[in-house]
Amino acid sequence: MLPIGPYTLRNRFILAPMAGVSEKPFRVIAFQLGAALCPTELISAQGLFRINTRTLRYLRYEPSVEVPYSLQLFGGEPEVMARAAVIAKDYGAQIIDINMGCPVKKVTKSGAGSAMMCDPSRAGDVVRQIREATGLPVTAKIRSGWDANARNFLEMADALGAAGVAALACHPRTRAQGYSGKADWDVLKALKAHVGNRFPVIGNGDVKKPADAVRMLEQTGVDYVMIGRGALGNPWIFRELLGGPAPTTEERCALVLRHFREHVAFSSEGRVQKADVPIDPERTELQAVRSFRNHLAWYAHGLFGASTFRGRINGLDGRAEVESAVEQFFLGARVDHAAQDEEQGDIDYRSALG
Ligand SMILES: Cc1cc2nc3c(=O)[nH]c(=O)nc-3n(C[C@H](O)[C@H](O)[C@H](O)COP(=O)(O)O)c2cc1C
Repeated sequence: MLPIGPYTLRNRFILAPMAGVSEKPFRVIAFQLGAALCPTELISAQGLFRINTRTLRYLRYEPSVEVPYSLQLFGGEPEVMARAAVIAKDYGAQIIDINMGCPVKKVTKSGAGSAMMCDPSRAGDVVRQIREATGLPVTAKIRSGWDANARNFLEMADALGAAGVAALACHPRTRAQGYSGKADWDVLKALKAHVGNRFPVIGNGDVKKPADAVRMLEQTGVDYVMIGRGALGNPWIFRELLGGPAPTTEERCALVLRHFREHVAFSSEGRVQKADVPIDPERTELQAVRSFRNHLAWYAHGLFGASTFRGRINGLDGRAEVESAVEQFFLGARVDHAAQDEEQGDIDYRSALG
């Protein structure tokens, strides 16, 4: 298995960075269930560079579990990215990952995210400058291209390879495709064949079940598999990939409760006060409880009665009420195999970005 910089990972399975999802509590859970690497969600280089207190809250991580700690940055200017990466390193980052795939306009309009794919030489510059400024391994995550007429993933691989990228993840849809259609695994196969052993290639896209990950490794030859939506509400996918069991009912219930409590604590701690506006702990808790609703819906997916449960929790704001609804539902929940195979519905990347 090709290492990522100095790091030999314990297996080939990586949690995808997901805004609003890949926060410390979920990353720790995924690591503990077997994921070999769990990069943070995208973090603004501009925000870090300006020491924005809200941005700094994204840097929180668990050093006893998150090894190596990979932090994803987005930004358009190589100099700003490099200075932000130095700050990230001071806060503990061991790998810097660069977002070159985000399709959201708010991000691309400043030349960041997937807009980076329109300028491979600037993309290479970002990697080079961050490496020089921090000495850390720098990875990148790309799409197959900007649109169907510009599928330049091989050119990107060459530019990033020349700049010394430590690994390259690819989500093989174009920016124009967003999340529609199927991920084109032929792109991953062509990318790995082109790159050879110069640096590891991380394949991503449409891995929903353990068998999909095995198929991706076999069909494309990529070094690692990155799993996003397939891990939503199902972090046990990493344990199953290593030959472990699916969760028992009690275990599922205990983990949902644990994730909920850690999410509320994580979302509430270290809130910064705006001038003259005192922090209202009740309001903070309410926001945290509400922002966990997506996770609850994902955990309930594929269980009998999931849609009734979803309707119920959407009307609950109190922490204790949610906990008791969770216990009531998950302790009695049986798996609905037919529903498990149904799509979870489209997840809106925009709303995830807040
Ligand atoms: C809710 C959500 C948030 C995402 N946020 C990020 C992000 O912060 N950084 C990033 O590189 N990709 C982000 N992505 C893209 C995923 O990392 C991944 O490339 C994509 O979901 C395809 O993989 P999948 O089919 O396994 O989900 C996000 C995807 C989703 C669904």
